[in-house]
Amino acid sequence: MDFSTLQTVRVERENGTTFVTLNRPEKRNAMSPQLHFEMVDVLKELAEDEDTRVVVLTGAGDSWCAGQDIQLFFRDLDDKPKQRYLARLANHEWRWSLLSTFPKPTIAMVNGYCFGGAFVQLFACDFAIAADDAQFGLSEVNWGILPGGLVGKVIMDGLSYRDAVWYAMTGEPFDGKKAAEIRLINKSVPRDRLRAETMALAESLAKKNPQTLRTIKESLRMVRGMSIDQAADYLLAKEREMRFLDPESGRAKAMKQFLDDKTYRPGMGEYKRDQT
Ligand code: COA
Repeated sequence: MDFSTLQTVRVERENGTTFVTLNRPEKRNAMSPQLHFEMVDVLKELAEDEDTRVVVLTGAGDSWCAGQDIQLFFRDLDDKPKQRYLARLANHEWRWSLLSTFPKPTIAMVNGYCFGGAFVQLFACDFAIAADDAQFGLSEVNWGILPGGLVGKVIMDGLSYRDAVWYAMTGEPFDGKKAAEIRLINKSVPRDRLRAETMALAESLAKKNPQTLRTIKESLRMVRGMSIDQAADYLLAKEREMRFLDPESGRAKAMKQFLDDKTYRPGMGEYKRDQT
């Protein structure tokens, strides 16, 4: 795929980490139908891209994403049922179907505004780091709608009941520090440290066994909706699947290094992946 032809998304690779940047800074990276279509193509391309170990989702300029483009995604499509249908499909496909199941670790690097619909891709990412002064908000109530399009669901699953209802019903904006305090994100850092902190996390993930990471994220997301019995059975099956699929036989290698060679302590760090 030729990333240089994209108009609303930028893709840049840096040592195994691929930065995917929503690129409509003049509209605070609000999501237009075109952005949704381009993001579907980008994520499908990167899923099996050999040069991509970790994906970082960020925004151009001083905004992460100002939610759906109220003009282009809503008003303009109100009387265009076919275009609305296709845009909604793409909107759901990249922000949830593709991103939440992406086969590699994903990090939301929240560099500024994060409003409304942007919460879906925020929760779809495995990790989230924000600038201390980033601004978050469930602003739907402020323009007379509800946090629909999955926003209501991801906030109820991912935040405490009190916080989800508070921010959905007040529309009150809050900063990165508050977002970390309510565990909407992993942590917030000073703006000038945002990229370095994100890269440090990405690089530590890139060193780990990719098949293990993939199976862990798939499993953790799936068990949330299961009973104890279903989860126990499913996790056993995933464990066996991973042993079968892992091209580097990580489990056997790690056991040998710990039990036979006594060369590493699993509690303190990872096994040596290049050792036989
Ligand atoms: N949809 C469409 N256009 C948007 C947009 C959105 N969600 N968010 C910002 N824009 C546009 C503005 O209309 C403006 O366009 P213009 O220059 O052609 O007039 C441009 O982006 C810049 O926005 P502006 O409000 O001037 O920037 P700001 O930096 O002062 O404020 C925000 C930024 C994000 C606080 C403000 O634009 C805002 O509240 N946006 C809506 C956020 C929202 O409620 N999103 C939920 C949608 S689901």
